[in-house]
Amino acid sequence: MNGYDTTPPDAPNKEKPSKAALIKRFLTPKTNGGQSNRAVLPAAKKYPSSYTQFEQFEGYKQQKMLRDAAKLLGAENPFFGLHEGTAGATTVINGKECINFSSYDYLGLSSDPRVQQAAIEAIGTYGTSVSASRIVSGERPIHRELERALAETYQVDDALVFVSGHATNVSVIGHLFGAKDLIVHDALIHNSALVGAQLSGATRRSFPHNDTEALERLLIEQRDRFERVLIVVEGIYSMDGDAPDLPELVRIKNQFGALLMVDEAHSFGVLGATGLGLREHANVPAKAVDIWMGTLSKALAGCGGYIAGSTALIEQLRYSAPGFVYSVGMAPPVAAASLAALNILRTEPERVSSLHTNGRYFLEQARAYSFNTGLSMGYSVVPVVLGNSLKAVKLSISLLEQGINAQPIIYPAVEERAARLRFFISCSHQTKHIDQALAQLDSLK
Ligand SMILES: Cc1ncc(COP(=O)(O)O)c(C=O)c1O
Repeated sequence: MNGYDTTPPDAPNKEKPSKAALIKRFLTPKTNGGQSNRAVLPAAKKYPSSYTQFEQFEGYKQQKMLRDAAKLLGAENPFFGLHEGTAGATTVINGKECINFSSYDYLGLSSDPRVQQAAIEAIGTYGTSVSASRIVSGERPIHRELERALAETYQVDDALVFVSGHATNVSVIGHLFGAKDLIVHDALIHNSALVGAQLSGATRRSFPHNDTEALERLLIEQRDRFERVLIVVEGIYSMDGDAPDLPELVRIKNQFGALLMVDEAHSFGVLGATGLGLREHANVPAKAVDIWMGTLSKALAGCGGYIAGSTALIEQLRYSAPGFVYSVGMAPPVAAASLAALNILRTEPERVSSLHTNGRYFLEQARAYSFNTGLSMGYSVVPVVLGNSLKAVKLSISLLEQGINAQPIIYPAVEERAARLRFFISCSHQTKHIDQALAQLDSLK
């Protein structure tokens, strides 16, 4: 029945209306005088304002209370600082040049002229947008070139790029697993993997950070209650800067008939002598891991995420992962920039060596000042744990006043006792940048 048909479904079978009467009926606007099939509206009720007004949403009220409290205690908002140009080892914030430890451009490629030129040329050839999902008419050669290069670099069958790193985890984990499955993840896993696990409807369990014995105990107890089991870890943990024991994880996943997924957001381009990531660092063949995930937004100077793995995995995702099929194809300048960055990574391993030197130097010097650097292994991420959110915010603001940009990581992103400043290290940092930052931090603490 369409919206114009005013005959009740159970009306007695009348004479067939004439064509003219039918046309008239279609052209006459629907009225409500007992003729319409529209539902009779109940009397308007009053609903609590917390149902209808964003100001009354509990989440908003809590955020606002925290911001107001911080202001009262004399801490300005350290978030959403406005960088006026490229943010590399140095950056300009509110007109002031600072040494920058808050950008994950680990190989300094976002400002590289070759990367920028590749983006410009891709705009000239393909435009700024592909204006469609790839499955329909958004596919461009630059997408295939980037995916081929990623698959070759990983030494796996194939790869697929998504427009967001976060959406890659949400979509892939959410899509591949379901109610009969178990997803087991490190307690410090990134939010995107958690959201994917929740979306999947699978049972979700976490194991204490990097504790493979606890993982094994959990699987001894739980494995046989489920069909598929996914273990999810990160290559370098984004808040702590440490890496998992990959050979042990591979052994466990084989023993328990599970699948292993490694999120290399902060380890690809970083770990291993030539930046090939956790597998190079741990000397494990790429195919020992079932799902390699990474982001283009860090070492690869772009935006988006990728999955690398077997033909069957990538084919399945290419035709059915919601965040791929129902989303626009990657913008050509972004794909071209990341492809150029990947080519530079493959031909200039000295960038990776400089990053290692800087990370090691930062960690050693920070320890020499007796800062609590937590679990950091001294590669791309080094935290200075302060144990108090307000202290972290205040220190970050004071540092910025002195020309050092290091972001606070506070509750609820980490536990209150783990509140910290987080330093991202780049191959472009100079020794004097690190010396100056740590000396300033020491003078303020
Ligand atoms: C471990 C990890 N995975 C996934 C993401 C999401 O990536 P993106 O910011 O590129 O969307 C991040 C973000 O920084 C991350 O740290």
